[in-house]
Amino acid sequence: MENTKRTEWDEEEEQAEVSIWKYIFRFTEMAVVKCAIELGIADTIESHGGGPMTLSELSSTLGCDPSPLSRVLRFLTHRGIFKEMPTTKGSPRYAQTRLSSRLLRKGEHSMAALILFESSPVMLAPWHRLSARVLAYETAPFEVVHGEDIWRYAAENPGHSRLINEAMACDARLVVPAMLQGCPEVFDGLSSLVDVGGGNGTTLQLLVKSCQWIRGINFDLPNVVSDAAEFPGIERVGGDMFASVPKADAAFLKNVLHDWGDNECIQILKKCRESIPEGKGKVIIVEAVIDQEAKISDKLTDAHTTTGKERTLEEWGLVLGKAGFRNLRCDGYGYKDQLC
Ligand SMILES: C[S@@+](CC[C@H](N)C(=O)[O-])C[C@H]1O[C@@H](n2cnc3c(N)ncnc32)[C@H](O)[C@@H]1O
Repeated sequence: MENTKRTEWDEEEEQAEVSIWKYIFRFTEMAVVKCAIELGIADTIESHGGGPMTLSELSSTLGCDPSPLSRVLRFLTHRGIFKEMPTTKGSPRYAQTRLSSRLLRKGEHSMAALILFESSPVMLAPWHRLSARVLAYETAPFEVVHGEDIWRYAAENPGHSRLINEAMACDARLVVPAMLQGCPEVFDGLSSLVDVGGGNGTTLQLLVKSCQWIRGINFDLPNVVSDAAEFPGIERVGGDMFASVPKADAAFLKNVLHDWGDNECIQILKKCRESIPEGKGKVIIVEAVIDQEAKISDKLTDAHTTTGKERTLEEWGLVLGKAGFRNLRCDGYGYKDQLC
């Protein structure tokens, strides 16, 4: 009699055959979502009164071929990005989901700029050099592909600089409210705060709006601050954080240190220490913390910068200790396991 009992090995084998297709075609998810943003599908449905639209209504409003559009919509509805509504006349109608209406539309909560940044040819090309970086640690993928590091490249390519700043602003609009809700006491008693590598100032705008007793200094490279909008209560200062950081009660670093190796982080943190009052100043860091065990907060950004890396709590502790910080406080405030 044939032995029909499935072994653990059979199940693993079957699962592997299914899983491999994810790795072959997952890139299409990013490409199709990017396409939906570029076409403006979510904004079009919204400006049609938010109600469902048929394929022909959508294709004529967008001025595109209904045939490829129908396949793009099928792909997106299968993934819950839009939804197909029941129809009596045989033609499907497409409606928003929370994801498309909140995150893909233009507006306060949009993540569109971050998707357009990560999916841009400039940012994707270095990923093809990841194995080269792993094999020869000195190889910096972004520099190999573009001839200079991301910040010099951005200074010479204002369009890319704007893409970076708008992408970071998306993250700020999600993270800062969560941070203010999760650990508001961090900002009590501060009369001034310098946002080191503050980008176009979105983080500080949200902070000073909510903590009006704080005078903000948005500190970044000269080409970045010159592009940041003016905002009451915020001074814009251009400079280099490796040379010096403007003085304030607290230095704030969000998504900056992960762009740098340990030695550079130590240099930046030492400059931050010099900028705050001895004994009572503080440095506030907002970064992802990789949880080695749980495998839930995984993130890899090695191809983006020359020496940057994501770190575990232990690795963050080492860097902070070497920069001379002893009195550490760590708050996970629930959004993407960031550390404040
Ligand atoms: C990943 S972005 C983070 C932006 C912002 N903190 C946020 O989270 O929205 C890193 C920032 O560091 C800035 N930066 C890079 N090198 C710098 C330097 N030497 N001095 C000051 N800022 C720098 C970049 O221009 C960029 O705005």
